[in-house]
Formats: sequence, structure tokens, C-alpha cells
Amino acid sequence: MTHFQSSSDEIERFTEAAAGRLPVMLTGPTGCGKTQFVEHMAQQLGRPLITVTCHDDLSTADLVGRYIIEQGDVRWVDGPLTRAARLGAICYLDEVIEARRDSLAVLHSLADHRRSLYLERTGEVIQAPDTFMLVCSYNPRNRGSFKELRPSFRQRFVTLSFDYADAESEARIVAAEGGVALEVAARLVAYARSVREGTSHGLSEAPSTRLLVNAAILIAHGCTEHRAVEIAMVTPLSIGPAMEDSVRELVRASVLNGAK
Ligand SMILES: Nc1ncnc2c1ncn2[C@@H]1O[C@H](COP(=O)(O)OP(=O)(O)O)[C@@H](O)[C@H]1O
Ligand SMILES: [Mg+2]
Repeated sequence: MTHFQSSSDEIERFTEAAAGRLPVMLTGPTGCGKTQFVEHMAQQLGRPLITVTCHDDLSTADLVGRYIIEQGDVRWVDGPLTRAARLGAICYLDEVIEARRDSLAVLHSLADHRRSLYLERTGEVIQAPDTFMLVCSYNPRNRGSFKELRPSFRQRFVTLSFDYADAESEARIVAAEGGVALEVAARLVAYARSVREGTSHGLSEAPSTRLLVNAAILIAHGCTEHRAVEIAMVTPLSIGPAMEDSVRELVRASVLNGAK
């Protein structure tokens, strides 16, 4: 069972949207628990989950399906979106902002009252069962400048904003997911929060909850805290060597003082 620690009303609101057959958009920084949340909700609602990781080559055919030639025969193969629409699954488009705008147009009729999918190549119209649900996620702070979702797409979704949990909840998440003591997790969180504060002073990237969990896992398997923070939380950020040094200094000076 995927473990999700809720910090707001997201479970209730998602449940209502699912019951009301509304599509949901999750926004928030990378590694704050969006995917973990969708997996948790799929399990809780008892619906299958079909995940599509979006990228800039993603075509409509990648979503709905295509004809393939197999041992001389031409055969139609459903794509993940079509499978989800037939099955009544939750279809989760992760990082939807990465997908080409024209590939997303096929979602429109599934994301409103019609709840239908037209397969242009076969002429078939699929009417999605009540349990079908469209869920998308993206990180609005990660502005690739010209990358924006069209209003006609965005405005179809109930939108739940995610962020890193408050210090106490995040420490509980890191302790549980990483398998370390709460006090160790709390030190990692305190460090991450001080670096996140730095992002308001020009630091371009900050460690996500995911990176804290990674550091915790290393520690749980025997790594020292200093080294775990270094390789799981500092080096993965692309902030440049000079910044890395000052971040390292921050760790040494304050948060991990006294830790092994
Ligand atoms: N609220 C939470 N409850 C449980 N685990 C969480 C939570 N938030 C973050 N995590 C941890 O952080 C990791 C990254 O979260 P993920 O869902 O992949 O982030 P996102 O999809 O927002 O990029 C998860 O594998 C999980 O260990
Ligand atoms: Mg994700």
C-alpha cells in the first residue's frame, strides 16, 4: 500500500471530484508528493491507475493507440489513454506541460461532460465508464518560458495545489519513507528548509522531499549524515560549484552540527 501523508484537504476534494466525474489537475514543485498522492487515491478508490509520463515527442497516437504490423497482419493496439477509457481507470498524465499542445487536444472530449474518446483512425467512439478519471500534474514554477497550458485545457480541471509539507509533517514523511529516526529526519528537513529559503535569494533550485527521502535511505543503510546530504541533497541540484560550497558550508555550520 502506497503511503501518503496528507497535509491539507486534498484527499477529500479528490474523492469528491472522482464521485462527481470531474478531472483533476495537481500543481506543485517536483518531488512534493503528487505522484505518491495519485497512487494512494487509486488504491483508496479501488480503481486501476494508468500513468503516462509526458515528454515533448508525445504524439496523439502514443496516447490513443496505433495500427501495427505483426507477422504480416495489421492490428490496432490501444494506447494508455484508450485502455484507461475502456477500463474505467484513472489515467494520470505526469508532467503534462511537457507534452506537445496538439497532442493534448484529444483529451478535451474526455475532460468535459461528454466523457468520450473518438478514435479517428478506427472510427470508434468510446464512452468512458463512470470510474474513468483524468488526472494531470505539472510544476508551474518550472517555467520553460514559452511552455504554458492552453486555457481551454487548463480550465477543464479542478486544480489542487501541492507544496512541500510543513516542517513537522515533512519530517514524519522522511522518517517513514526513508526508515530513519524522527530526529534524523528533522535535521534533514531543517537543512532543506534553510536551502529552500535561499531560493528567494537567488538560488535556482532547492532539495525536494524526494531528495530528503533519498538521503534518509542512504543513512538507514549505514551512510553518515554528512555524506548522505552531500550526494543525495547537494550535488543533485544544478546550482554551480560556488553555490554548492556555500550550501555545504551552511550544512556544516548549522544544521548538522553535532551529528555524526
Ligand atoms: N505527502 C507525502 N506522503 C508520503 N510520501 C511523500 C509525500 N510527499 C513526498 N513523499 C515522498 O517523496 C517522494 C517523491 O514524491 P513524488 O510523488 O514522486 O513527487 P512528485 O510527483 O510531486 O514529483 C515519494 O516517493 C515519497 O517517498
Ligand atoms: Mg511525479
